[in-house]
Amino acid sequence: MDSIPANRRLWNRISSAYQREHDPQIGATPRLWGMYSIPDAHVQALGDVTGKRVLELGCGAGQWSRALAAEGADVVGLDLSEAQLAAAKASMGTPCYPLVQGAAEHLPFADDSFDLVFCDFGGLSWAPPHRAVPQAARVLRRGGRLVFNVASPWFETCYDEATARVTTTLHQDYFGLHTIAEGDDATSYQLTYGDWIRVLRAADLIIDDLIEPRPDPGTRNGYNETDPPDWAHHWPAEALWVTHKT
Ligand SMILES: C[S@@+](CC[C@H](N)C(=O)[O-])C[C@H]1O[C@@H](n2cnc3c(N)ncnc32)[C@H](O)[C@@H]1O
Repeated sequence: MDSIPANRRLWNRISSAYQREHDPQIGATPRLWGMYSIPDAHVQALGDVTGKRVLELGCGAGQWSRALAAEGADVVGLDLSEAQLAAAKASMGTPCYPLVQGAAEHLPFADDSFDLVFCDFGGLSWAPPHRAVPQAARVLRRGGRLVFNVASPWFETCYDEATARVTTTLHQDYFGLHTIAEGDDATSYQLTYGDWIRVLRAADLIIDDLIEPRPDPGTRNGYNETDPPDWAHHWPAEALWVTHKT
């Protein structure tokens, strides 16, 4: 299935409201992962990017790319949505970094051209992983790393559509996760743990770590209601995969 047109339309439509609501959290401090703003310094997923050629897959308003460019990375921000790219351009600052419109499914870059490809709820949440992971691997140099943060299968299976909150009851079929309807025909993607491992291995990626960021009790989820409020202190809400190309 091709979710590119509908996902592009969705993100063009919601971009301003999304940035109004979430930019204060995402852009507050550099290098914050996911729904709970877990500092990269706590989980050490990206490490030193100075002088590295870096691609952010689904950069949105570029909060991460902006921070990495300021640290001396040679970073490119790719996104499907022109509205999101306009938001990134508007908050560019110094140094500048290039923005490219494109889809994680068909990356417009040469083979072996990046040291690090990464995203935080970006292209690997919004493009079919069996298409986006091989593309990310293709553009990585040998030894280059693919690091990405997505919602965990735990979080998805415990999501109650009726109350729009994550609970302690299983509501979704784990083996039926795959695609998640996001409204307006848009789709996000989720795999079982086994399927993630198979997709990564099939693209010749070695799994170095699966970090399960654990927020302290009382840490706010800026995106979803959970019941109990400290749900993610007890169960993993996110899966932060750290891999490299053989
Ligand atoms: C939740 S945002 C992630 C960006 C940023 N990390 C954030 O948290 O706001 C998802 C981004 O993925 C982009 N996106 C959706 N589908 C995509 C695709 N197929 N390829 C690349 N980017 C895509 C959207 O336009 C949006 O900017």
